[in-house]
Amino acid sequence: MNTVLIGSQWGDEGKGKVIDVLTDKADVVVRYQGGSNAGHTVIAEGKKRVLRLIPSGILHEGKVCVIGNGVVMNPLDLIEEIEAMRATGVEPKGRLFISTRTQMVMLYHRALDKAEEAARAPGKKIGTTGRGIGPAYAAKVSRTGLRCGDMLTAGFLDLVREQVEETNAKLRMLKAERVDAGDDIEVPGCTVKGYQLDADELVAIYRTVQEKLSPYVRDTVPMLHEAKKAGKSILLEGAQGTMLDIDFGTYPFVTSSNPTSGGACIGSGLSPRDIDCVVGVIKAYTTRVGEGPFPTELYNAVNLQDPDGKTMAERGHEFGAVTKRPRRTGWYDAVIARYAQQVNGVDYWALTKLDVMDVFPKIKICVAYELDGRRIDYMPSSAAELARVKPIYEEMDGWMCETSNVTRMEDLPPKAKAYVDRLVELSGGKLGILSIGPARESTLRIAL
Ligand code: IMP
Repeated sequence: MNTVLIGSQWGDEGKGKVIDVLTDKADVVVRYQGGSNAGHTVIAEGKKRVLRLIPSGILHEGKVCVIGNGVVMNPLDLIEEIEAMRATGVEPKGRLFISTRTQMVMLYHRALDKAEEAARAPGKKIGTTGRGIGPAYAAKVSRTGLRCGDMLTAGFLDLVREQVEETNAKLRMLKAERVDAGDDIEVPGCTVKGYQLDADELVAIYRTVQEKLSPYVRDTVPMLHEAKKAGKSILLEGAQGTMLDIDFGTYPFVTSSNPTSGGACIGSGLSPRDIDCVVGVIKAYTTRVGEGPFPTELYNAVNLQDPDGKTMAERGHEFGAVTKRPRRTGWYDAVIARYAQQVNGVDYWALTKLDVMDVFPKIKICVAYELDGRRIDYMPSSAAELARVKPIYEEMDGWMCETSNVTRMEDLPPKAKAYVDRLVELSGGKLGILSIGPARESTLRIAL
């Protein structure tokens, strides 16, 4: 049984925990897109870990983990993660494999990400994580990117030097276009002076990278197909979420890859026929980080201070796992959920963070939008239209008691059960998992 797990909203739905829970039935876990812009938080045996690149399957003994070709991998972040794993007694070698086709995010991509964002005028900024994701994917499609397989060749460091020099030329142009105050960019891990990177320094850094990571690199396509043939279960995990998809999200306020379930095939080398099940992780309310439209938004750190939204942010600990930025919060949006169900083919929902809603006397659900005076129940394809919609709400009674200690679906307070049922009814698909707290134990497995 091969399962794809996707984020249904704007990321941060609690995928890390759900993946961790589903991993017990998987033999191989594959990360299929994104990079270290994502952060999966996993709490197991009382320890909290944030994994950015390594699939959280690594925390389960004997599971094989693959960083697929759809990922853009920052080798410095990966080395840090591998070392952090080792420090807690988990040895990735022999269980972690990186595809030869995986693109590398280099320090010069991070420099470009920062410089491009600084050159964007207010209102045009994307609010990127600054991790070099956009420039790395841009290099991939413009066919200039370095792939992990290049680390296994003799000319790798010459390619690095060439690319640093080319990037320095681009950076000189971006410096002239800078609209923000400030006259340099910061790239953690290397020196930048006057928007210029030092080629010798970067070559030395990537020499170490090459030594440390080459043993993990292999062609993972035959490996996955052999696993499949041997009857092993493969779990494919996406990062970010449907509304951040480069094609289906709120373009241009999106990430540069396809978090949707189609991306799982493109990003791993398994075919659509190999996928048996799609699990959509969705939060009992909505959050977003970065810029872009958000119809049910109630609260943000800039100009919206609705007390219900603030309560969601506080109770849900809504701060980015990687960037620590406060997240924007709002009510559950069933238009998004239905759209996510359609574009991903969600079979089962993993509904997370229901416990965050324990304290609201009344809870709203967005069931449709009003766009220019007309009711619509589909997702507009343009961010400009989505920015104009007004949510049409339905209101339900809250349950006003704690749910995080519930161990069986039957013991859920009736009003909480009614809320969950309504969300599923409005969204399509079936309920597979209900999560009522951050720990692995606070999970009700209904169908998965
Ligand atoms: P990038 O992926 O760094 O280029 O950022 C593009 C957009 O995606 C920004 O709005 C980010 O805040 C958002 N984004 C990227 N990764 C994540 C994530 O893991 N969770 C939530 N938002 C993300």
